[in-house]
Amino acid sequence: MSPAKKGAKTSTPKKAASLKGKKVPSNEFQFYEMPKYYDMALERDTCPEIEFYKRMFDEFSDVKPVKRVLEPACGTGLFLEWLPKFDFYAAGYDLAEPMVKFAKERLDKLGYTGKKADAYVGDMRTIRFEKKFDAAINLVNSIGYLTKDEDIINHFKVTADSLNDGCIYSIEVGLKCDDFKNEYMPDETWHVNKDGIEVTCTWQPHDYDEPNKIRHIAFHMKVNDHGKIIEVNETHSLRLWTHEDLVDLAGKGGFKLMGVYLQDFSRIPDSQRIVGDPGGLYYILKKKA
Ligand SMILES: C[S@@+](CC[C@H](N)C(=O)[O-])C[C@H]1O[C@@H](n2cnc3c(N)ncnc32)[C@H](O)[C@@H]1O
Repeated sequence: MSPAKKGAKTSTPKKAASLKGKKVPSNEFQFYEMPKYYDMALERDTCPEIEFYKRMFDEFSDVKPVKRVLEPACGTGLFLEWLPKFDFYAAGYDLAEPMVKFAKERLDKLGYTGKKADAYVGDMRTIRFEKKFDAAINLVNSIGYLTKDEDIINHFKVTADSLNDGCIYSIEVGLKCDDFKNEYMPDETWHVNKDGIEVTCTWQPHDYDEPNKIRHIAFHMKVNDHGKIIEVNETHSLRLWTHEDLVDLAGKGGFKLMGVYLQDFSRIPDSQRIVGDPGGLYYILKKKA
């Protein structure tokens, strides 16, 4: 049975909702203007993660089988390429136009566009889809780019509007560390060398603005593309999440928490307080009826 709203003709996003006269900032990060190098730097094996999402849908979704998956902040469309290989239709959107162009070209090359996957330009705070989805996934703390409570709640509301009741929204986030002075700072420098192109990236949290709940991250990328040298130095400011805030804001946007999972996809017992520096976590949310 297709859970899609009867009469909805396409997956085309609805016109963006008004942000009450406020200016919508564009995505100012050069890193997200360079999809070719982003894709190299963030290349990863998607299969274990998609298997995890399948398990979450089986366990928690009221809509079965899950067929249509939405990916807010889809970047270069890596998951839009791989979700159809697991029999899902996938649609994604991103604020950065170069990322979406790259994703569209990737899907076109595979012959997926309009059939198995689509990519759009859109803002997490405002975009709604007429034809509803059965699940949504949000990766690598992309939702952290929304730093204000109001924007985060708006994101949950518009995502809830794009999903059928009882559907799952999985978000991957990096949580606040309790003890900043003694925070474990892993070596966040990594290198990739592919087809004669060398990319070196450094991702280093350097400043915590606790009153405004923001974590500032110094990002550096150096590319050597067959002798052409490109350097990027920028600050990414991301939401300093606490477990309590995240659950509260998701609740105000129409979602309830089903479980929290570690990077190895094991579940954190519900009775265990989420403190310390647990690394990236998957929050499995369900749209309230
Ligand atoms: C770390 S990347 C993740 C991309 C992709 N999901 C992945 O797994 O590789 C974060 C993405 O969030 C996007 N982004 C930031 N703010 C956004 C917003 N308000 N609406 C939509 N996308 C946004 C950026 O353009 C960027 O592509």
